[in-house]
Amino acid sequence: MKRVYIYKGFERFWHWTQASLIIFLAVTGFEVHGSFTVFGFEHAAMFHRVASYMLIVLIVFAIFWHIVTGEWKQYIPTTKKLKAQIMYYSFGMFKGEKHPTKKTELSKMNPLQRLTYLGFKLVLIPVTVISGIIYMTQKTLDKNNIVVIKDFSLDSIAFWHTLGAFLLIVFLIIHVYMTTTGHTPTSNIQAMITGYEDLEDEEDETTEVKAESKDKKVKPVKETNS
Ligand code: HEM
Repeated sequence: MKRVYIYKGFERFWHWTQASLIIFLAVTGFEVHGSFTVFGFEHAAMFHRVASYMLIVLIVFAIFWHIVTGEWKQYIPTTKKLKAQIMYYSFGMFKGEKHPTKKTELSKMNPLQRLTYLGFKLVLIPVTVISGIIYMTQKTLDKNNIVVIKDFSLDSIAFWHTLGAFLLIVFLIIHVYMTTTGHTPTSNIQAMITGYEDLEDEEDETTEVKAESKDKKVKPVKETNS
């Protein structure tokens, strides 16, 4: 195994801040929705607004970061090994099979992750954030606080926003479960905290294959430097 610096400082900051804000927005949002009481309606609505501004600022910085670092390329979808990856998550990993794709610094995501995260960034987040912004601005008040213009029906905005929120929670639950399917149950989470992950060393594999073909009777020994 080789220790590789896989998640940069900003990426880790963005990941954990986004996760915390989404969880906080889900708690305050569903309180506004009437699902439970934690802060009280007025406070929940106010906290929800403040956190939503923070999320918007974070998203703007994240978009900028993805563009200038070229990290957006990590999300280019591919169908290569997609079926193998689905089969691995559905059956292979329970039988102790090997990961069908290799994680490297330049290709951090397997084909299924690419598709999922692309959907998260291009559909789920925009639906929730844009409907949230429309929710916030859907009515124009005059100086006596009387609604003078209502461009969108509140019902349809609330529907799309709540649907987005619900799907984000579903995503979060599946996402947390999937993080446990790495090299060890906590290796992926540790990597997102420290930035470093132990990945299979490609050189070791080549050496192993060479050794195997040279002398089939000699069992190759893998060198580890971690
Ligand atoms: C930038 C992002 C977001 C904005 C601008 C936003 C904005 C809003 C606004 C304006 C409301 C109406 C309540 C109020 O006036 O305070 C609301 C409600 C709500 N928000 Fe958000 N929100 C955002 C993100 C989220 C996220 C990430 C979630 C959950 C994961 C969420 C869940 C909810 C829920 C469940 C409601 C109640 C909907 C209803 O029953 O009408 N929001 N949001």
